[in-house]
Amino acid sequence: MSPAAAPHFRRAIRFYDASIGKKAVMAITGVILFAYVLGHLLGNLQIYAADHDQINRYAAFLHDPARAGLLWAVRGLLFISVVLHITASIQLWSLNRAARPIGYVKKDNVPSAYAARTMMWSGPIIAAFVIFHILHLTTGSVLPLEELGPNRPNVRANVINGFQHPAVAAAYMVAMVLLCLHLYHGLWSMFQSVGLSHPRYTPGIKRVAAIAAILVAAGNISIPLTVITGLLPD
Ligand code: HEM
Repeated sequence: MSPAAAPHFRRAIRFYDASIGKKAVMAITGVILFAYVLGHLLGNLQIYAADHDQINRYAAFLHDPARAGLLWAVRGLLFISVVLHITASIQLWSLNRAARPIGYVKKDNVPSAYAARTMMWSGPIIAAFVIFHILHLTTGSVLPLEELGPNRPNVRANVINGFQHPAVAAAYMVAMVLLCLHLYHGLWSMFQSVGLSHPRYTPGIKRVAAIAAILVAAGNISIPLTVITGLLPD
């Protein structure tokens, strides 16, 4: 490291060492992951397009070898964000535990303690879901995947074939309910933990967070639901 960069590096480490630094990392990586979930949902909703090949053309665009660098850059950013998000959450959780006197429960902290507890079990389940999901629809390790050609996955067929298995559809729907809870608590507590909270605005922030979380979950759940009920024709 150059001598000029060393003080900046030390300052960044000191910032991360403080609880607010970890909260900032949680917030920034949370926003990146939320943006991905939103973008991914908008891409997936193309499964309802009248032109059944629309979503496959979109997947072929993403998999075009000419854009492989960009694809891997996004994958790298997501991977780093997930690792930092999980690491900071565990460190914050153990800091909070260490700071909490045994047997002491402060009344007005109960809702945020409940939110934090919800995050600590919904988070690992969502992480397990993402691993299962990549094995299912990216690597084809759960069910065989169809391809229309090299780098052209038949996403429409793969999604419909997968959700025709009730256990797979059910697992996705349960994971999406947990994702809804996680997004709701994550979105509003993000404002709280970086100090942007005010009795006048918090109810509005919570309402917007609830609407965003419910819309994301409903959009995602609609896909296994319409497949399993036969509303999405193959
Ligand atoms: C019913 C809901 C969902 C459907 C139908 C769906 C569909 C898909 C499909 C078809 C792929 C493979 C895309 C391709 O190879 O071009 C994929 C990849 C992926 N999905 Fe989903 N997805 C859903 C929900 C989610 C959620 C909620 C998350 C995150 C929490 C997520 C994270 C990912 C990731 C990380 C990949 C791998 C991307 C890559 O290979 O670069 N998905 N999804």
